[in-house]
Amino acid sequence: MAMKLMAKGSEAEVYRTSAFGIDAILKDRKPKAYRIKELDESIRSARTRSEAKITYIADSAGVRVPNVLFAKRYQLFITYIDGSQMSTMMQQGKRISKGMLVQVGKYLGMLHNAGISHGDFTPANILIDSKGEPWIIDFGLSSISDSIEEKALDLLLMKRSIDSASYAYFIEGYSSKARACKIVLMRLSGIEKRGRYNERS
Ligand SMILES: Nc1ncnc2c1ncn2[C@@H]1O[C@H](COP(=O)(O)OP(=O)(O)O)[C@@H](O)[C@H]1O
Ligand SMILES: [Mg+2]
Repeated sequence: MAMKLMAKGSEAEVYRTSAFGIDAILKDRKPKAYRIKELDESIRSARTRSEAKITYIADSAGVRVPNVLFAKRYQLFITYIDGSQMSTMMQQGKRISKGMLVQVGKYLGMLHNAGISHGDFTPANILIDSKGEPWIIDFGLSSISDSIEEKALDLLLMKRSIDSASYAYFIEGYSSKARACKIVLMRLSGIEKRGRYNERS
């Protein structure tokens, strides 16, 4: 099986490969030498299972995400999405349309309605395909919880990653879907007033 390394994050190595003749991505969680072996293995397998499960729940909730093909203990195989990271497009000065931003906001609202906090909701984890459709990826830090704080933190990350006009479109989409949007937005302004979670946190 030919594999091409696409990204090497702090947590996983990401390869482009194929599985069952399908263009695929392999997320391989490598051992961390600084952790006790038993603990390391249980963390890596728990995160692999959690990412598979939450990606699947997101899909069921109607959010455009890759399909989970199969999982091994520390490896997750998902379908390859032919698109560009929204962060890369921004760096290249490509236009991020109102429609894309509204749709991304809707997807976050749908995730929150399904009880999912993404945990790393940034333009690096949004892929835009050739039709301009956004896909949400990287559920490695996601959790299933009703925490208003975690939902507000998803918004805060986006707010800090895009300009204010783009953020307004994003919030337009989010508010049209998220059932708890008022309370989440209130919590967000509370967080900002308290000055918690500074730029580096
Ligand atoms: N299903 C996918 N299709 C295409 N590219 C992907 C896919 N999943 C991940 N990638 C690429 O690999 C990068 C790293 O994957 P990601 O799941 O974000 O892991 P992490 O950020 O934890 O290293 C992504 O930013 C994206 O560029
Ligand atoms: Mg990522």
